[in-house]
Amino acid sequence: MTKTYLLALDQGTSSSRSIVFDPAGRLVAQAQQELPQIYPRPGWVEHDPREIWRTQLATARAALAQAGIGAAEVRAIGITNQRETTLVWNRRTGAPIHHAIVWQDRRAEPACARLREEGHEALIREKTGLLIDAYFSATKLQWLLEHVPGARAAAEAGELAFGTVDSWLVWQLTDGARHVTDVSNASRTMLFNVHTNQWDDELLALMDIPRSLMPEVLPSASMEFGRTAAGLLGGSIPIAGVAGDQQSALFGQACFSAGMAKNTYGTGCFMLMHTGHRFEKSENGLLTTSAAQATATPEYAMEGSVFVGGAVVQWLRDGLHAIRASSEVQQLAESVPDSGGVVMVPAFTGLGAPYWQPDARGTITGLTRGTTLAHIARAALESIAYQSAALLGAMSRDAVAAGGAPVSELRVDGGACVNDLLMQFQADLLGIPVVRPACVETTALGAAYLAGLASGVYGSREELAGLWRVERRFVPTMERARAQELMARWEHAVAQATLAPA
Ligand code: G3P
Repeated sequence: MTKTYLLALDQGTSSSRSIVFDPAGRLVAQAQQELPQIYPRPGWVEHDPREIWRTQLATARAALAQAGIGAAEVRAIGITNQRETTLVWNRRTGAPIHHAIVWQDRRAEPACARLREEGHEALIREKTGLLIDAYFSATKLQWLLEHVPGARAAAEAGELAFGTVDSWLVWQLTDGARHVTDVSNASRTMLFNVHTNQWDDELLALMDIPRSLMPEVLPSASMEFGRTAAGLLGGSIPIAGVAGDQQSALFGQACFSAGMAKNTYGTGCFMLMHTGHRFEKSENGLLTTSAAQATATPEYAMEGSVFVGGAVVQWLRDGLHAIRASSEVQQLAESVPDSGGVVMVPAFTGLGAPYWQPDARGTITGLTRGTTLAHIARAALESIAYQSAALLGAMSRDAVAAGGAPVSELRVDGGACVNDLLMQFQADLLGIPVVRPACVETTALGAAYLAGLASGVYGSREELAGLWRVERRFVPTMERARAQELMARWEHAVAQATLAPA
């Protein structure tokens, strides 16, 4: 009998990757290509949609070749992607009308300010779970319709299609046959009603967006996404899973029920906690978002992000020249027993949840004559854990306020989770175990699992939970009183960072 595999396409902000998994969730082959970034003006970030597609297709072909398998051995494809990034293309020609506007792009801030001034915050929060922000797709789409010559008229004539990156990839993979997205990506547009799992006519009208632009929304695991055009990957393969990258990682970590949480340690950190079927509004500045859904029934997660996570290590390397390569940070930080009282708040671009202080700036406190670069490196690493601990604290408070239990373990993934020093300190601060799985490619794995679930490789989520394996469990060893002292010292430093002039 021929073996069956799952192919995950992971289209991220800085690169396109493709990974072949076997049914046990083991990585068989992978390929990656960088994605060029375009910065037309300060605060603007774009991607060329054709480059997104070219790099993604190239890596899919390379991963299959590396695995030594053909289309016939791939049961299904799962797609996961950078979220919120906004594309519009012509339905007839398939040509994009503009570069993709990337999630980090701030050009739509004036439109968001108007929405806030007009008092739409509560309505948008209630329907979408989101705060009004230029991060999300709606005002980016509005910008395209207003600024690309002829776009509004063409949109009103039904000639254009809007999509996040997943929609664009499915359109390309199916040769224009399918214009679809999934609930988790839709929930990041600020146009999607997360209670009904449908585009919201009131929000579309409020933002003057013709409904004809919008893709069909499907559950994250579904056989309805379409099939790849036969010529692309050497045969037609069903696309059976789609999810935004953070929700996909939550799924890949087998966090399927209320109170289960994961943190992805990348350039920034994204923390998500599943809240089951309950839509809960945070009292602590977190977003509510749709979790990846295997059925038509809505499921939710709370989300918060740390803006500067692993990026603080890049700053040590490129700004301070304290290290030559990022990999040297652990050794330097470990050359001292602790940070010697130094606390670094890397609020380079303000502070996100739970502080929401856009004007805060980076601060280092506790310097003495004895402070060395090693102490600063240690404080920099620790800052990632402090910010994540503050986020998790907010999540736990929300969970308890909603009648649930505080988070009892944190599952981790992303580049910096390989750093043992950081993971141990994280567990010590949190007072709960921090668990690193055997496969830290959980974003891609989540998409593969969704595709495998829809295509019958797996029978249930319980089966998937059974595949999830622990590689290392970091158990807290620090006294709680000491951890509380350290958190208090961190909060003191945060207060100083928010005093700094912008
Ligand atoms: O919300 C943005 C997030 O989806 C981007 O993730 O991993 O591509 O930086 P990443």
